[in-house]
Amino acid sequence: MSLTPEDRFKAVVAHAKEYGFVFQSSEIYDGLAAVYDYGQNGSLLKNNLKEYWWRSMVQLHENIVGIDSAIFMHPTTWKASGHVDAFNDPLIDNKDSKKRYRADVLVEEYVEKIRQKAEKEVAKAAQRFGETFDEALYRQTNPRVVEYLTKADAVMARFVQALEAGDLDAVRQVILDEGIACPVSGTKNWTEVRQFNLMFGTKMGSVAEGSTDLYLRPETAQGIFVNFLNVHKTGRTKIPFGIAQIGKAFRNEIVARQFIFRMREFEQMEMQYFVAPGTEMEWYEAWKEKRMAWHRNLGFSASKYRFHNHDKLAHYANAAADIEFEFPFGFKELEGIHSRTDFDLRNHEAFSGKKLQVFDPESNTSYIPFVVETSVGLDRLFLAVLSTAYDEETLPDGSVRTVLHLPPALAPTKAAILPLVKKDGLPELAHELLNSLKFDFHVAYDEKDAIGRRYRRQDALGTPICITVDHESLTDGAATLRYRDSMQQERLPFAAIPAKIREVASMEVLLKQL
Ligand code: GAP
Repeated sequence: MSLTPEDRFKAVVAHAKEYGFVFQSSEIYDGLAAVYDYGQNGSLLKNNLKEYWWRSMVQLHENIVGIDSAIFMHPTTWKASGHVDAFNDPLIDNKDSKKRYRADVLVEEYVEKIRQKAEKEVAKAAQRFGETFDEALYRQTNPRVVEYLTKADAVMARFVQALEAGDLDAVRQVILDEGIACPVSGTKNWTEVRQFNLMFGTKMGSVAEGSTDLYLRPETAQGIFVNFLNVHKTGRTKIPFGIAQIGKAFRNEIVARQFIFRMREFEQMEMQYFVAPGTEMEWYEAWKEKRMAWHRNLGFSASKYRFHNHDKLAHYANAAADIEFEFPFGFKELEGIHSRTDFDLRNHEAFSGKKLQVFDPESNTSYIPFVVETSVGLDRLFLAVLSTAYDEETLPDGSVRTVLHLPPALAPTKAAILPLVKKDGLPELAHELLNSLKFDFHVAYDEKDAIGRRYRRQDALGTPICITVDHESLTDGAATLRYRDSMQQERLPFAAIPAKIREVASMEVLLKQL
């Protein structure tokens, strides 16, 4: 059954709750905005996503190591990193709808619409001219396409210039001049633009007077930078090398919406790759490609991913690109790849007074390495996977089944063991099988309801294999395996089942494809 993107998104949010993937935080108290909890199945899926990332980084690269640094950090960290002064969103309110927006998002969405108009012209022409179509030439010469693209570039350039100059009046003027309207009220009745720092503050210490003001980290990367020398010295690493980390980050997002896409407490998987100055652009390009391949390896359509090169760079970057994913609400950032220069280490050196350099025996000099960063939001990845895997499939008999076509290695449960009936020794035999498998795989047991309904429930959870133990199993020592996607069945002896689960659903298979 084909769902509209809006219906798919609504269905995914409802499914996530109904099947124990994601719950609103503190729901019994009416919830806390933009904060979510992962349930019994969600936490397993999330752990599998972490494992896929961690093992691909730390286990598959001889020169990448992992750390786990604290959320609380010395407050000077955030001065040095630039987050106290520069980690701001420019906000603007519409006076009629009273809705608040990020000015950069308003302008970016406006520019994207202009670019889409050009893309539509190109697509129409491609259809009209067929095989003889010269796309590059058409883009350069068709007056309407040229007009749209020139306009999009000009608006963006003007906006970036205003932002970089910190000129908030000029930022507002772009919105006014372009006639950008509030998506809710449809009016252009805008307030001034204000800067809003996104870091959450807290206090450490037992008495108010003697306490220290701290921030909850807005990115995990700084825990890597401040440990750079510890790892380099104790790990005997050589440039180029990487440090990876998975952990919580916190941002006081003003425009927090779209379920787990933009949260106030979220998790990042970041890797900082330390390279020799002058080689950073090479590594930046290499990591862009590597990370795209990692995402595409999950098996979803390649057309769901694209790069978006940044016009407006973060305060620490000299080049940056997003890997965007087609969520049900459109293409949005999933991962950022940034060339961070030596900005962070140089500033930490200046603020701490400690040398953060490596020695190059060839030139007999020390230098501050440059950094290429890959940073993916775990929750966004979760949403990308869940929303794409979700399907309401019409079967040949006309019935509809809800199924999660999750990459099997990510599925919360690898196999469900189902005794055909709740008697005649079948539950005992099914438990024997379960107990023999549980050391290697996350397996589940279910004996409630008719077998068809149990299959449907496992489909909705994304379980790749159901294993039915029936009366014949008591004598032939075999069971029927039913596969989620094809719904095909095959009979296998108990002894062959572990190898089959491994072949279908192990992380090793996914990693070896990289
Ligand atoms: N260390 C670099 C950094 O933090 P970023 O682009 O601000 O860069 C990296 O964030 C990734 O973290 C994003 O691509 C996104 O996946 C995720 N992310 C950022 N803010 C988020 C939020 N409020 N909720 C969920 N994920 C978020």
